[in-house]
Amino acid sequence: MSNINKPDRLELQVKLKQKAAESAVDFVQSGMVLGLGTGSTTRFALEYIGLRIKTGQLRDIVGIPSSFQTEKIAKELGIPLTNFDEHQEIDLTIDGADEVDLHLNLIKGGGGALLREKILAQSSRRNIIIVDEHKLSPKLGTHWPLPVELIPFAIKPVANYITSLGAKIILRKKNDGSTYTTDQNNFILDCNFGPISNPEELALKLCNRAGIVEHGLFLGLATEVIVATENGIRHIMREK
Ligand code: A5P
Repeated sequence: MSNINKPDRLELQVKLKQKAAESAVDFVQSGMVLGLGTGSTTRFALEYIGLRIKTGQLRDIVGIPSSFQTEKIAKELGIPLTNFDEHQEIDLTIDGADEVDLHLNLIKGGGGALLREKILAQSSRRNIIIVDEHKLSPKLGTHWPLPVELIPFAIKPVANYITSLGAKIILRKKNDGSTYTTDQNNFILDCNFGPISNPEELALKLCNRAGIVEHGLFLGLATEVIVATENGIRHIMREK
């Protein structure tokens, strides 16, 4: 993919996202409770699910959305929604990721929905992550900063703490320059650690710090990853 120019590369990535999403939707069956991720790759999956509901190929599907954005899209596409009061267990979650390592660990949260996405992932029997091949990485943190969601009250101490762990941090902003807030009205720090040699240790350090609500390291949560490549689809299962 490196030999092609930027617009062509972006176009190819969009096509690959679409292919990964379509492959994942093949695993959706009538009657399932679905976890609906967030992001541009998941959007394609939502479109395919909506289409299959419309054409009668899928029936009795309900979905729990991982963000207000996904909730809105799902409603527009005619995907019936539910919540954790109605269903505590999810049959299948389909979601994207920002970076995927060789052990199927992930960085997520580029779209800001990491907290709800992790809640869905932890409540799901099966978690299919859909990505295009440029998301694959030898070590998490190589290509993408780690998003950390925190309560606004704790911004200074948490920022100092994460800096002391070795990251360069940026408070996420919206395009208009104002501070980005999550669906829970929290802030996000994008934390550039570089390649993370021990994600489990870092996850523990972040979890133990008051003020941090969640971080974007998804360790051991993906049951499988569908990677769309220029040479076709790779379906990688987590080793048991
Ligand atoms: C949303 O918070 C993220 O975890 C997304 O799943 C991730 O950023 C992937 O997004 P794209 O599918 O838009 O690349």
